[in-house]
Amino acid sequence: MEVGFLGLGIMGKAMATNLLRHGFRVTVWNRTLSKCQELVALGATVGETPAAVVAKCKFTIAMLSDPRAALSVVFDKDGVLEQIGEGKGYVDMSTVDAETSCKISEAIKQKGGAFVEAPVSGSKKPAEDGQLVVLAAGDKALYDDMVPAFDVLGKKSFFLGEIGNGAKMKLVVNMIMGSVMNAFSEGLCLADESGLSPQTLLDVLDLGGIANPMFKMKGPSMLQGSYNPAFPLKHMQKDMRLALSLGDENAVAMPVAAAANEAFKKARSLGLGDQDFSAVHEVLKGAGGSGQA
Ligand SMILES: NC(=O)c1ccc[n+]([C@@H]2O[C@H](COP(=O)([O-])OP(=O)(O)OC[C@H]3O[C@@H](n4cnc5c(N)ncnc54)[C@H](OP(=O)(O)O)[C@@H]3O)[C@@H](O)[C@H]2O)c1
Repeated sequence: MEVGFLGLGIMGKAMATNLLRHGFRVTVWNRTLSKCQELVALGATVGETPAAVVAKCKFTIAMLSDPRAALSVVFDKDGVLEQIGEGKGYVDMSTVDAETSCKISEAIKQKGGAFVEAPVSGSKKPAEDGQLVVLAAGDKALYDDMVPAFDVLGKKSFFLGEIGNGAKMKLVVNMIMGSVMNAFSEGLCLADESGLSPQTLLDVLDLGGIANPMFKMKGPSMLQGSYNPAFPLKHMQKDMRLALSLGDENAVAMPVAAAANEAFKKARSLGLGDQDFSAVHEVLKGAGGSGQA
């Protein structure tokens, strides 16, 4: 199976690498074209523009940072729309809002192409290991065509029906994750400031009913103040913002998520946007008793 792949950031690089390892022929494009070279070394070919990739491939996957990037790659000069048409499919796996996804879907359908949104749950490591959870919606026939690729990228794929449902599901999941991260960080601060060992707190948490892979993976590095980005904080804040907007539209009160969003915004203002989202711990440490952010 031949696929195009647009966007070789943390996630896109890992996903395109997995596809290559599983025998897919992959044509890659990235805004910063030099990032394609690592994939070329693994057997990929390069398309000079998104349009060139779509012209070459029946199916093209995108994994881009945010709504602005997702729209730009489709609608701008040399974009996906210039070459999409009958018999071609476009699959956007970026985390965006439903409105962005609908705009892209409408434009692609007008050109005779098929569209699936398929954001993923899971981070850098699950992406490297092919253990993502795919939250797809849109054109069912294209979804079916993409199952072999989704099976390589993820451990489970959901087809959630009409366009927008995948985007919304992803935002709900990340809204919960961002809120939980803030509570976790506050807990680590509270343990520390009240004379307990945060490391012992991690051990206790890991044995109880709220044990989870995120605490296990992020906790030790947070205690060391180390935030090597798996999921950049700026993207987490984007997801909180989009989830809160979904809450606005549906009149759902989300006081916990709103507070968490403020902490992520503060972290961005402190220059932590490119660090892992667990770097919000620096904000909460700063807000606590020690004042050492
Ligand atoms: N990292 C995670 O754990 C994770 C997990 C699930 C979902 N996601 C979602 O997956 C998406 C990608 O995340 P990531 O962590 O891979 O992000 P990333 O490392 O920041 O990569 C972002 C990608 O988008 C490209 N890009 C940014 N602005 C662009 C524009 N205006 N036009 C064209 N390309 C543009 C970047 O190109 P350059 O290389 O040129 O900058 C890069 O390829 C995001 O929507 C994120 O929310 C991430």
